[in-house]
Amino acid sequence: MTPDEVQSRIAKLRAEVAYHDERYHRQARPEISDFDYDRLKRELADLEAQFPQLAAGDSATRRVGDDRTEGFVRVKHRLAMTTLDNTYDEAELREFHARLVKALGTPELLYTVEPKIDGVAVSLTFERGRLTRAVTRGDGEEGDDVTTNVRTIHGLPHALKPAGDPLFAAMPDLIEIRGEIFLRDEEFQRINRQQEEAGEAAYANPRNLAAGTLKLLDPKLVATRRLEIVLYGLGACEPAPEGFDSQTSFHEQLKHWGLPVVAKFWTVSGIDAAWVAIQELDVLRRSLPFGTDGAVVKLDSFAQQKVVGYRGEGQAARKLSPRWACAYKFAPDRAETRVRAITIQVGRTGALTPVAELEPVQLAGTTVKRATLHNADEIARKDVRVGDAVLVEKAGEIIPAVVRVLVEKRPPHCEAYVFPDKCPVCGTPVVRIEGGVAWRCPNPECPEKVRRKLEHFASKACMDIDGLGEEIVDLLLKHRLIRSIPDLFRLKVVDLLPLKKSGEVWAGNLVNAIAARRTADLWRVIHGLGIPQVGAASAKDLARRFRSLEALAEASLNDLVQIDGFGEKTAEAVRTWFNEPVNRALVSELLEAGLRPTPPPEAAAGGALAGKTVVLTGTLPTLSREEATAKIEAAGGKVSGSVSRKTHYVLAGEDAGSKLEKAKTLGVPVLDEAGLKALLGET
Ligand code: IVH
Repeated sequence: MTPDEVQSRIAKLRAEVAYHDERYHRQARPEISDFDYDRLKRELADLEAQFPQLAAGDSATRRVGDDRTEGFVRVKHRLAMTTLDNTYDEAELREFHARLVKALGTPELLYTVEPKIDGVAVSLTFERGRLTRAVTRGDGEEGDDVTTNVRTIHGLPHALKPAGDPLFAAMPDLIEIRGEIFLRDEEFQRINRQQEEAGEAAYANPRNLAAGTLKLLDPKLVATRRLEIVLYGLGACEPAPEGFDSQTSFHEQLKHWGLPVVAKFWTVSGIDAAWVAIQELDVLRRSLPFGTDGAVVKLDSFAQQKVVGYRGEGQAARKLSPRWACAYKFAPDRAETRVRAITIQVGRTGALTPVAELEPVQLAGTTVKRATLHNADEIARKDVRVGDAVLVEKAGEIIPAVVRVLVEKRPPHCEAYVFPDKCPVCGTPVVRIEGGVAWRCPNPECPEKVRRKLEHFASKACMDIDGLGEEIVDLLLKHRLIRSIPDLFRLKVVDLLPLKKSGEVWAGNLVNAIAARRTADLWRVIHGLGIPQVGAASAKDLARRFRSLEALAEASLNDLVQIDGFGEKTAEAVRTWFNEPVNRALVSELLEAGLRPTPPPEAAAGGALAGKTVVLTGTLPTLSREEATAKIEAAGGKVSGSVSRKTHYVLAGEDAGSKLEKAKTLGVPVLDEAGLKALLGET
């Protein structure tokens, strides 16, 4: 390459890396896989190292990215949160070891090998054992305060278990503990299915969904997605750590404090043993229910870590990188195959989801025949065509994805894919809602939509009708015994008898099972209606507030926005749904067919807290969160996760955080435990 070419390549790579940084960190919607991103960064780093005189200006290669977003309070880390560059190369891992041997003057080095969890880094602060803050990495020096959202994470205690065992450390006054927030593959798929159904863009991978969830402004919505966390790193500690002086003993300490830790880690001597551990991890990770994209090898001894320190010392946090750790990433499982066809799935809401039908190929131990293409924009962006050779990848997630087209292998006369302008099932011209990514079939009678709606209604999450799974729904549709949800309640044993040989028992059971659900909980019916944006949690709120389908159908937009935790989007979706004559007809028909949903128990209508919303924060002297919640609910109140003008009381205990501050700002009355008991007439 001529100097000019090198310079222009460097400029181009910097721009590309910056672009993908933005997609990844700020928008949580990457366009390329980590592997391809790392490759760009690596090429840039190599060029910059090789031609330093041509690479003047700010380098992008040590950029950590910056996840800070609007709407969050920014908090400084006491100790900078650094990150690591990745390597895919065993030789580089061995160079890391050689550098340490040289720096420390001994070949006998102990390492820990930990799974590198593919999630979002956070720093938790515990003061006198209580969780007071959770902050994202941000730019390494300052991150976003996501405490409220992090507190919704199941399995994360809000207080450290005190040391019962003298072997373990006394509680530091203040300690920053670093870890990773992630989503299981299964949860990722569940949420993405919902996204697609709602016509919203699917998330690229569990990590991006975890990142997006952590940055939601509504903690209630966060709580509906099961984020998880593991902790593995030490930040600031005041006074200096006592009782743990190595990564291995720190892990023990974390466990002792009752914190969730990595499923397995290895403490090994020397780089050969570390390499063996990495190979073991490569096998183990395939059976883990979440994405593990590599291994982090760390010098075990904190004293040795201190000796070798950081590269880029004296510079901004985003340019620091520990010399004592190295991230080895597993190359993703990829395979080459061909697109046989592109088919379109029609969802319950009519959203059209394109799927690549592939020539079967072995990938990470399974045969892959299909890969989702998400939506029309995604196909256009990747320019996927029928007949194309494509690379498919299975990273953490179970759903295989088309990484890119191998354009050089494109057969001649291969035409650009034209997204259908009609529903492939019923032929109705498709429509796209403003701002949405999904094309939809607007025909309420589209047979595929009808089928999906029926399946949803009968499903466990909604009406939970025994014996009415997808297969039976199909069978009933095929025999034209049902065409809509209300038809289910009109089924008779005699209609069903011809469907199965000696089917009397089956038919009787099914009819009884459906009849038994006539009085199902109101929220189940509401959830079953399939109103966009309304999942189980919102359905429960609606049931609690309106107590009947008739009242809900008449609720005004204003009534709906009043519900704690309901944004305008959800409120509007509900109102719009009930404005549709077909939907109103559906509700009337259901009532005519004898559906008598059961409203939630009249939670102590005359109770001291009837109709009141209470937010809990901090630790109460005697009551646990669950006990306090039970008392509030028994008195007719509702416990909510976030403080707003609609909150009636904040119940605050010790170490109450930002919620208490917010209550004071908004002038919401604050109660302590004694105050609550007094209000309930217990004292
Ligand atoms: S150690 C300065 N340990 O992967 C020390 N990081 O490429 C860096 N990660 O930024 C962190 N699992 O967000 C460490 N067991 C683990 C990890 C881990 C996941 C993330 C972390 C870090 C990145 C390193």
